[in-house]
Amino acid sequence: MIVLEHVNKVYENGFHALKDINLEFKKGEITVLIGPSGCGKSTTMKLINALNTPSSGRVLIDGKDISRLNPVELRRNIGYVIQSVGLFPHMNIAKNAGVVPRLKKWDKDKIEQKVNQLLDMVGLDHTTYGTRYPSELSGGQQQRVGVVRALAADPDIILMDEPFSALDPISREQLQDELIRLQQELNKTIIFVTHDMDEAIKIADTIVLMKDGEVIQTGRPDTILRHPANDFVRDFIGSKRLQNESTYEIPLVDEVMITNPVTAFPSRGLAEAIKMMESKRVDSLLIVDRNRQLQGAVSIYRVLDQYGEEGKTVADVMHPVRYSVASGSTLAQAIEIMDSHQLSNLPVVDSNNRFLGLITRGSVVKHLAEVYPTIVPPEQNGEGE
Ligand SMILES: Nc1ncnc2c1ncn2[C@@H]1O[C@H](COP(=O)(O)OP(=O)(O)OP(=O)(O)O)[C@@H](O)[C@H]1O
Ligand SMILES: [Mg+2]
Repeated sequence: MIVLEHVNKVYENGFHALKDINLEFKKGEITVLIGPSGCGKSTTMKLINALNTPSSGRVLIDGKDISRLNPVELRRNIGYVIQSVGLFPHMNIAKNAGVVPRLKKWDKDKIEQKVNQLLDMVGLDHTTYGTRYPSELSGGQQQRVGVVRALAADPDIILMDEPFSALDPISREQLQDELIRLQQELNKTIIFVTHDMDEAIKIADTIVLMKDGEVIQTGRPDTILRHPANDFVRDFIGSKRLQNESTYEIPLVDEVMITNPVTAFPSRGLAEAIKMMESKRVDSLLIVDRNRQLQGAVSIYRVLDQYGEEGKTVADVMHPVRYSVASGSTLAQAIEIMDSHQLSNLPVVDSNNRFLGLITRGSVVKHLAEVYPTIVPPEQNGEGE
């Protein structure tokens, strides 16, 4: 986690670029900094890789004040992608992509393997593109190489300062999709600067809205859209988005799920499992470990079937849970999954795959009954489990 604590930045010319900034950038999340030109986005970003130092306040990475770290070393462990890619024209693509690992003195084979893998991953076949030079690539392709270069040394943190803004809309969309897909695999802490609210809404886990060196609002995209803090945010979001209320009235799984479903630790014995199901009047249990990772599920039938063998735990008899839905997904997405796989319930998990709650048919009906009281009569309003 990256923390900015009461950070001020006053440039040499006396300009007060950042005013008491307090921010947290969570591990494994994409945080998007957005705001008008000159509001301090790049200044904020450069504090994190020590290209800028705060005039007062602290920047902490995993609890360590970075002013105590060697800045060169720090930068080698943070990926940095900027708008004007900045590839070295005299180096081929593979060489460009391997710059940081070479500085870190990785061995040659390891660098080659990593670079090739990443080039392939962003859709640049390494046998075709590895030996080309930057001038032989399109803008979008060069930008992909920029992303590969930032990822090559496998840093935990990646800073991206308007990386896609020079691209045509189609390449831009593609790279956004690519980034989302990559992030699902790599789970990096990404800080992404943009001017474009659509881009922010699409890729952000958290949006930070800035103006004149101050943070105006921080939150999940959906929260900011639903509850803009003031007129500035409202204007920035654009009246078009807010007017289109129907789009944002689609409930999210988080509002619909039951948050206290019956769960058990993997180490529970079968007799205990039966007791739990009896007393809670359910016919299955979700098995969740101490880190709230969903391990599987057991049905009462399966438990009864195996009950004779003493010493067995629910972990021995559970089956894997194949489908889940991410927090922030719409109810429509959840229903589609349940429908196409004939599921009676669907777990909701966060970005770290931690179990948050359960969408059940009952919870869907209950939600609809609250939103549309005239459609579902109140007597059918129960959980139905
Ligand atoms: N080295 C510097 N010396 C003095 N002022 C600076 C310096 N660098 C930036 N500034 C000023 O600080 C403010 C914030 O700059 P910053 O680059 O962080 O803005 P930004 O939000 O990234 O803008 P943009 O969207 O245009 O990239 C601007 O008013 C800028 O002119
Ligand atoms: Mg900038």
